[in-house]
Amino acid sequence: MKKTVERANAFLKEHSGKTKGRYRPRYHACVPVGWANDPNGLIFFGGKAHLFCQYNPYHPYWESMHWGHFVSTDLIRWEFLPVALAPDQNYDCDGGCFSGTALEHEGKLILMYTGVAKNVQQQCLAVSEDGVTFEKAAANPVIPASLLPEGCSGRDFRDPKVFERQGIFYCITGVRDGETGDLLLFRSPDLLHWSFVGRLLSPEKDGIFVDGVCECPDYFEADGKELLLFCAMNYPEREGRFQNLHSSLYMTGHLDLLSGRFEPETCGELDGGFDFYAPQTMRLPDGRRVLIAWKLMWGRTIPTAKDGWAGSFTLPRELHIIDGALFQTPVKEIEGHRCGEVFYHDIPLCNERIPLAGIEGTVLELEAVFSLKSAKRAGVVLFQGETHETLVFYDAEAGRVLFDRSQSGADQRGSENESNVRVLPLSLENGTISFRIFLDVSSAEVFLNGGRGVMTGNIYADEGDRGISFFAEGGEAKLLSVRKYDLNLI
Ligand code: FRU
Repeated sequence: MKKTVERANAFLKEHSGKTKGRYRPRYHACVPVGWANDPNGLIFFGGKAHLFCQYNPYHPYWESMHWGHFVSTDLIRWEFLPVALAPDQNYDCDGGCFSGTALEHEGKLILMYTGVAKNVQQQCLAVSEDGVTFEKAAANPVIPASLLPEGCSGRDFRDPKVFERQGIFYCITGVRDGETGDLLLFRSPDLLHWSFVGRLLSPEKDGIFVDGVCECPDYFEADGKELLLFCAMNYPEREGRFQNLHSSLYMTGHLDLLSGRFEPETCGELDGGFDFYAPQTMRLPDGRRVLIAWKLMWGRTIPTAKDGWAGSFTLPRELHIIDGALFQTPVKEIEGHRCGEVFYHDIPLCNERIPLAGIEGTVLELEAVFSLKSAKRAGVVLFQGETHETLVFYDAEAGRVLFDRSQSGADQRGSENESNVRVLPLSLENGTISFRIFLDVSSAEVFLNGGRGVMTGNIYADEGDRGISFFAEGGEAKLLSVRKYDLNLI
């Protein structure tokens, strides 16, 4: 049967709210039923933040992509609106409507997405007056595969990031260029007529060789620095980084709009955890630059699928560049949902695990600051029960944080060699490490040392696995302070 927006919305009316609640997050964006991947078209429009996403309403697995649509007035409570795009045209009816971005132009909300027909991916537009219903442009595809430079294939040409500079529109897309992934820059006077400008990356010069496609680019300014984000498929592990099947990278540097070249200054991985991909950002009216990513990874077993849904999104994170380094912190709006504060300080720890009265649960914020002293390791046990535990701790000998979910609950193996332990190299600050942790039923986001590092992971523990304790091993440490808030969205 033909896939249309009407059909998808009728299906949603019937099936929303019927998925089982066991693992469903309380304060993270999550589709009511079906499969979701990449966040798309993040934009503040008409007084609300819009989060679109790759969406298959009919099944909890990837197939013929639609665009799901959430809106929020506080970045925490997300309302799921009617489906925005369905694969209903000859240029997008095969794989569907792949990832892209949004732009406000002449008071209208414009989506630019990849239409996937048989063996060809091309860039398309859809326009909305009301921010809810979209009409695809008669001129689609507006960036056809015939505009690709030599060596690039229309089979992998996707994820347009569109932006405007001084009356000219620019579009960065992901592509496979011969043996490596790259990003391409196009320009247009009117969003309809485009020409190719150049390649952003120079694999040999930049040392970034991508065995696949560079996906989901984003490009913006934060704190006076230009940032380029993109995802590198099959990116090889290096010095404990890039441990996931595909990796989300950021670069600071400069984009030359005349040549298309992005000259990088620094390059890093956005999140050192397990479940983080396809991040996109938006600028809020107050100037904040906020990032949301898909809170999952390709190739994993997904325990929620049998409950009728798969895929959710990270907490929105504010981005800053401080002394040249990237910092990510959860948006302050989450603090408005805090209740049930519990606070302790100066608790000595030595080769033991200590639970603290009033600190337990799976929907909460926890901030724990440790001074390492002679301890080799110090950290937190989460989702603790009789047979399960999840560990997040600092390993002083190796100078890194470990996130170990190997005993955490339901199996979530992936295509990587190691799917259940992640490491993030990080220096202590004045001998201390701080973990600011957000638990939401089936995930943990761990912000380290004020946002200098982040590790995100899904955890499918049993309902009774609500314990939290604090530990030091191999010597003495001190828990300088620990503060817990429950997060209650009702
Ligand atoms: C990244 C991605 C994009 C593509 C989309 C399809 O996760 O592969 O490159 O547009 O997912 O759903």
